[in-house]
Amino acid sequence: MRKPIIAGNWKMFKHLSDAVEFVEAVKSSIPNKEKVDSVICAPALFLPTLVEQAKGSNLAIGAQTMHFEKEGAFTGEVSPSQLSDIAVSYVVLGHSERREYYNETDAAVNKKTQAAFEYNLTPIVCVGETLEEREAGNTVAKVAGQVRAALEGLSTEQVKQTVIAYEPIWAIGTGKTATAEDANEVCGAVRATVQEIAGPDAAAAIRIQYGGSVKPENIVELLSMEHIDGALVGGASLQSDSYLRLLEAGA
Ligand code: G3H
Repeated sequence: MRKPIIAGNWKMFKHLSDAVEFVEAVKSSIPNKEKVDSVICAPALFLPTLVEQAKGSNLAIGAQTMHFEKEGAFTGEVSPSQLSDIAVSYVVLGHSERREYYNETDAAVNKKTQAAFEYNLTPIVCVGETLEEREAGNTVAKVAGQVRAALEGLSTEQVKQTVIAYEPIWAIGTGKTATAEDANEVCGAVRATVQEIAGPDAAAAIRIQYGGSVKPENIVELLSMEHIDGALVGGASLQSDSYLRLLEAGA
């Protein structure tokens, strides 16, 4: 049985005081770690504070992106070593917004995924198709290609520990959710791709999230699907009560 993983991605929302207030409000109510992995991926600026604040609770803190180099002259970037040093545990990689606005390529996502393992971070690797690609019948080809590229060169053990987030781009922040069946079909194709790359044990172990307008009202149905092991949630993770409801669905 795969343990569900529910991750909030706050994107570029909140100020530090709001973030601290949120963590204070939720930290004693986070479900047991044995049942569900509960994560908040916050703006980099908040990470040291939130990691300290969440210590001893069941809440894990993640970053939303990082560079693949340990250090260097990369103005404005955050390195895997810096995240690891402050005990951040997860990092979102290859989010469609990073791919679209910051030219993050499949090759860069692969380097970042490898770097995540080097520095003890669990990567949440995002994949997904545009509406055009879906309408042209290219969803599986696009997503499978992104999965292959991201996982290249990883050991079977590392593949097992990777989290893949399937996020159809047309469903992000639009209120349009893929039907649970459609989402499950693509997540199943992701699992089949993992099987081709790393074998049946890795395919059985890897956790695949769905993301795109997930909210308390639709998460139960999504999580009931065979290949959906969690959710990566933007908008509905910003309010503490809504976030806790999402976690309860996973627990
Ligand atoms: O990382 C999260 C996704 O981009 C989904 O965002 O839940 O606001 O649609 P959303």
